[in-house]
Amino acid sequence: MNRRLLAALGSAALALSMAACSGDGAGSGGNDSDQPGDLTIGVSMPTQTSERWIADGNSVKEKLEAKGYQVDLQYAGDDIPTQSQQVDQMITRGADVLIIAAIDGTALSGQLQAAADADIPVIAYDRLIRDSPNVDFYVSFDNYKVGVAQATALLVGLGVQTKDGAKGEAKGPFNIELFAGSLDDNNAHFFFDGAMDTLKPFIDDGTLKVTSGQTNIEQVAILRWQQEAAQRRMEDLLTSSYTGGTKVDGVLSPYDGLSRGIITALQNAGYKGADFPVVTGQDAEIASVKLIDDGVQSSTIFKDTRLLAEQAVVAAEAFLTDKAPEANDTETYNNGVKVVPSYLLPVQTVYKDDIKPVLIDSGYFTAEEVAAGQAG
Ligand code: GAL
Repeated sequence: MNRRLLAALGSAALALSMAACSGDGAGSGGNDSDQPGDLTIGVSMPTQTSERWIADGNSVKEKLEAKGYQVDLQYAGDDIPTQSQQVDQMITRGADVLIIAAIDGTALSGQLQAAADADIPVIAYDRLIRDSPNVDFYVSFDNYKVGVAQATALLVGLGVQTKDGAKGEAKGPFNIELFAGSLDDNNAHFFFDGAMDTLKPFIDDGTLKVTSGQTNIEQVAILRWQQEAAQRRMEDLLTSSYTGGTKVDGVLSPYDGLSRGIITALQNAGYKGADFPVVTGQDAEIASVKLIDDGVQSSTIFKDTRLLAEQAVVAAEAFLTDKAPEANDTETYNNGVKVVPSYLLPVQTVYKDDIKPVLIDSGYFTAEEVAAGQAG
């Protein structure tokens, strides 16, 4: 019997005894534990250093509060012990559902076991939680397709391919470098796999050359997705592999924060104007959207976090009413223990021309925010 059912039975018993005392007829009282205001959803987000997670946290909170739920929202400062402790506290404070975007996808098994023992459903938010049977649902985007879209945007930016997938005019060879996200984030592997499957034929036929020779995810990953670490790696690559007039033409970057570090390194090394390398991204962070608008960054992948938040709320409500949330993928996301039923949202590539129709017209950003490179 689950905890909520026990609570419901408890309050039904209480209602009955109160009815007996007051002499009220049957049917008075009701089950107060099912009122949204009595239910708390714990929302654990990884960090506030990236604007997207702030937007995600706020969206989830606002949408849940609009439905009358209590929300316990915590940010973990990209520190694994802090996140573990925050989730522990959410459980002890009596959360009814947990929504978690993990820092390290494998570090929360203990917390998830405690949640399962207390019958608290767990929804993995955007990042899959691995190595635990106690992940009940996953809301995210099609992460492999994000990688494909990033690599395709690199090919389009270089002119090797056109936006509609046809062969482009440019023949290369082009010098490129590859970046990946944090190895402890399940998504980083999906992005890199999607990108490499797309780029490999062009590397094999010599159109693209990874000058540094660094093509394994372990060699190109950036721990915790840190902008400064990406900048340092790009600086190191420029000094070690781009000497004697060799120029870098393109950089596969899986996330806007990394892209900004990479762009800073390139600018400091004197790259500018029409010769500026093609740099990809992800998340449509406002500072990067401005860089795209200014013609510095080539593209980003837009993942509408409003829709992701909405799906997390839909899944949480399903659990709170003892229903299974509706999945649209029950095959892709094996977390090492089981396949986690998932709801995956589509993604969209944004080049300069797409900023207005995709980001501004949908109300994601205003034209003023894009011009200022700052939200709010
Ligand atoms: C990933 C996420 C990306 C990006 C990255 C860095 O897990 O899917 O969209 O936000 O983290 O925060």
